[in-house]
Amino acid sequence: MSHAQPPAAGHDWWRSAVIYQVYIRSFADGDGDGIGDLTGLRERLPYLAGLGVDAIWLNPWYTSPMADGGYDVADYRDIDPAFGTLDDAQAMIEEAHDLGLRVVIDIVPNHTSDRHAWFRQAVAEGPGSPARARYHFRDGKGTDGELPPNNWRSVFGGGAWTRVTEPDGTPGQWYLHLFAPEQPDLNWDNKEVRAEFESILRFWFDRGVDGVRIDVAHALDKDPGLPDLGPSDIEGIGSAADADHPHWDREGVHEIFRGWRAVADSYPEQRAFVAEAWTGAPERLARYVRPDELHTAFNFDYLTAPWRGDRLREAIDTSLAALGSVGAPATWVLSNHDVARHVSRYGRPQPDGPVRSLSELATDVPFDLELGTRRARAAALLTLALPGGAYVYQGEELGLWEVEDLPDALLQDPTWERSGHTDRGRDGCRVPLPWSGVSAPFGYSPGGARAQPWLPQPAAWRELTEEAQRGADGSMLELYRAALRIRAEHPALGDGAMTWDSGTDSAVLSFTRAPGLRCVVNLSPDLVVLPEHSGVILASGPLESGLLPGDTAVWLAL
Ligand code: NOJ
Repeated sequence: MSHAQPPAAGHDWWRSAVIYQVYIRSFADGDGDGIGDLTGLRERLPYLAGLGVDAIWLNPWYTSPMADGGYDVADYRDIDPAFGTLDDAQAMIEEAHDLGLRVVIDIVPNHTSDRHAWFRQAVAEGPGSPARARYHFRDGKGTDGELPPNNWRSVFGGGAWTRVTEPDGTPGQWYLHLFAPEQPDLNWDNKEVRAEFESILRFWFDRGVDGVRIDVAHALDKDPGLPDLGPSDIEGIGSAADADHPHWDREGVHEIFRGWRAVADSYPEQRAFVAEAWTGAPERLARYVRPDELHTAFNFDYLTAPWRGDRLREAIDTSLAALGSVGAPATWVLSNHDVARHVSRYGRPQPDGPVRSLSELATDVPFDLELGTRRARAAALLTLALPGGAYVYQGEELGLWEVEDLPDALLQDPTWERSGHTDRGRDGCRVPLPWSGVSAPFGYSPGGARAQPWLPQPAAWRELTEEAQRGADGSMLELYRAALRIRAEHPALGDGAMTWDSGTDSAVLSFTRAPGLRCVVNLSPDLVVLPEHSGVILASGPLESGLLPGDTAVWLAL
């Protein structure tokens, strides 16, 4: 087998890496069926190298019925035909490496698809079979087993149990799914499950993959008694409400990840993990990145913080303290495929508490695109100046906003149906990228494509195409390109320490990165006098007579 070499060594590359998230379905469509694919990604790899990121992370690309955008995997060792073939994946890895980009893939260990061979076998072989022991099958409660085994809830809405029909045609056992019914949860107390995932890791590491993002890493271990949730557990759905939850953030996950770390460490070149773990407190998150466990974890406290100086500073301080206590670097994330794009989150009055979806913001105030964009520009400079690694979600470098008016009939996120049409879900941040031209599909699909993009692009995105922004003064794309270029070269940026500057109020974030760089972010409406500096390295917007306007950030040379 050809073994794609990663880019030139680089010690602990994951401590400083800027990783670009490719939501492959919406990135670039090479074959004209309206769905992004590996051909499209391969054509655009030079764009990503030119943007200045260090690595790409791809959302799941495996064979899947796509009940949840590919997070329902039917075969972990093959590529979905909509995206390409295993050979295409191998070629993509090699081409990325040749361009100096590392490749991170997404592993989904909490659940398989209900079309996975294991689950089909489990249904076919009936109660008590070894195949059922790989999942969580239980008899129901009630006189005829007609009630679910407990009161657990699906993250997407509704109950977390579905009843199967037994091979003899009778209503039978129930199986657990913390997400959609098409995503049965695996039983991580089962030895075969553990061995299988270590083998899957090796399969991809052997093909040259440099890292793995772990889907719902905090969900793998379940209380074997499957006790009912208490009222506060139900309220805390989607994240751990406390340290003793029956299915979130339980102690047992750590042993699993120590085993995974040993697999990664058995390779000569560094392979790194990033955990998707929604935990109750930064100290709980830090437990996933202890030296013998995972390398990094997404920082969702930062992602969900409102655009307020005090909240951002709190998220930064608590993250750095908790992660620093175990020697792990922080990662900074503004958007991903599960939350509303930050231009749209920030372009509205900001609450006190965390924000993931627009429903958590005032709906009676119209979205202010100019304000959201100005803040997103400042946020980019803040994010890329903080110590550690950073993620860029595809399209944020173009300043894309959340598409809030997708027609109901086109919504695909299972949340829409499972919530009884009360939660529109996450499709609005997954709309295909605009690359070029003045009308849809904006170069996302090739000329003469036989199908429309799988979600419609707003006509106004003609001003945000990569082509329109390339080389354009003041464009979001050129801001990202400049910031990433400077970040790659400046010795102060990336992994390391930061020091808050004294004497600023809570609406101004000002900190120093040694040697010689200061980042100042003005979250107040007022003009602010810049602290001592010898020059301006980069600003997110024009200064006014040497003063820093509101919602603007600047990198200063000291
Ligand atoms: C987290 C993923 O990011 C999300 O998109 C998915 O729906 C759930 N995990 C379930 O796999």
